[in-house]
Amino acid sequence: MKKNHSSFLDLRKFVAPEFIFGVGARKLAGRYALNFGARKVLLVSDKFLHSKTSWVDEVEQSFKDAGIPYVLFMEVSPNPRSAEVMHGATVFANEHCDGIVALGGGSVMDCAKGIGIVYANGGNILDFEGVDKIPRAMPPLMCIPTTSGTASEVSQFVIILDEFRACKIAIVSKAVVPDVGLLDPEVTISMDPYLTACSGMDALTHAIEAYVSNASSPITDLHALEAIRLIWEALPEVMVQPSDLGWRAQVLMGSLQAGLAFSNAILGATHAMAHSLGGFLDLPHGECNAILLGPVMQYNYSACLEKSQKIGEIFGLSLEGLPETVAAQQLCQTIENFRRKLGIHNTLKGLGVQRSKFSQLIEYALHDACMATNPQVMTVEDVESIYEQAL
Ligand SMILES: [Fe+2]
Repeated sequence: MKKNHSSFLDLRKFVAPEFIFGVGARKLAGRYALNFGARKVLLVSDKFLHSKTSWVDEVEQSFKDAGIPYVLFMEVSPNPRSAEVMHGATVFANEHCDGIVALGGGSVMDCAKGIGIVYANGGNILDFEGVDKIPRAMPPLMCIPTTSGTASEVSQFVIILDEFRACKIAIVSKAVVPDVGLLDPEVTISMDPYLTACSGMDALTHAIEAYVSNASSPITDLHALEAIRLIWEALPEVMVQPSDLGWRAQVLMGSLQAGLAFSNAILGATHAMAHSLGGFLDLPHGECNAILLGPVMQYNYSACLEKSQKIGEIFGLSLEGLPETVAAQQLCQTIENFRRKLGIHNTLKGLGVQRSKFSQLIEYALHDACMATNPQVMTVEDVESIYEQAL
């Protein structure tokens, strides 16, 4: 049997929500809330967006136009804490809301998902860690991403910081896929250059990890490869021309397609190790991924040889025929050069990571849900050597 046929025999599911992509999508929030039957909406956002951009005001106006009352909730940190989710769920209940609109980056959208889970199911958000642990459906959720990174607007993932154990928990369920994603390239213009670079590298990492994941499928591959191509081309252009809406839209489309891929194929060791750094040391997610992606791809190279070569092709490399150690090193170096070209020069040491923290970081990384779909099984020594390389 031919190899390309056999890949159709594996059991794979693909889940994706409705989404609207294009300039002005943010202004549809009110109409969609009405369509979903909401009578009062909790608008989850953050203080930076409220004070520095007009996006929050514009979404509020869309509720006014639709005649829907709303309450604003902005108590969300980067790496959202479980206590913030619990606070939001209390506000949602006390205000008698019945729909949620999230306007922000991954932290805002994940906090909004957490609020919906707790409101519908009771208990503490930390009780829902793991796969398919949400018995009751959330209230209608509409997501408007303001970064081109996490793709939480289409994903089955929620990442919350357990501030008591100093680690991140992953909640994976079809129940947390939003009812609609409103993807508007115009709102991504408010990102500063470093956030643009880091969130773009997060999206590129989603695409690459989903592509080489051992849970990938022909459908996720389609989106993952296209996402790699779109982001690889457009992200450097966005850094040079930050107000160019066309390039911004291409990065957002790349992020969306990466999201469709990774929500279904899951991720890999880069994310497992970045979640460990984010949870234990509260470090920024996109920056950690940018630093770890090259070394992880070097390590994974032989375990996903053909796919690594295909990624190399998109990067302009010809890796076929090279000794695998040489090719793996080239792939790593190309990713390292790319992230430096975007302005991400940091190392783990630069972020304050010390070797004395390695044993705890390794333990969390090896137990992270994303580690299970890495194409190569990792040992303590493997994870340690990658942290060491990225130090
Ligand atoms: Fe990510």
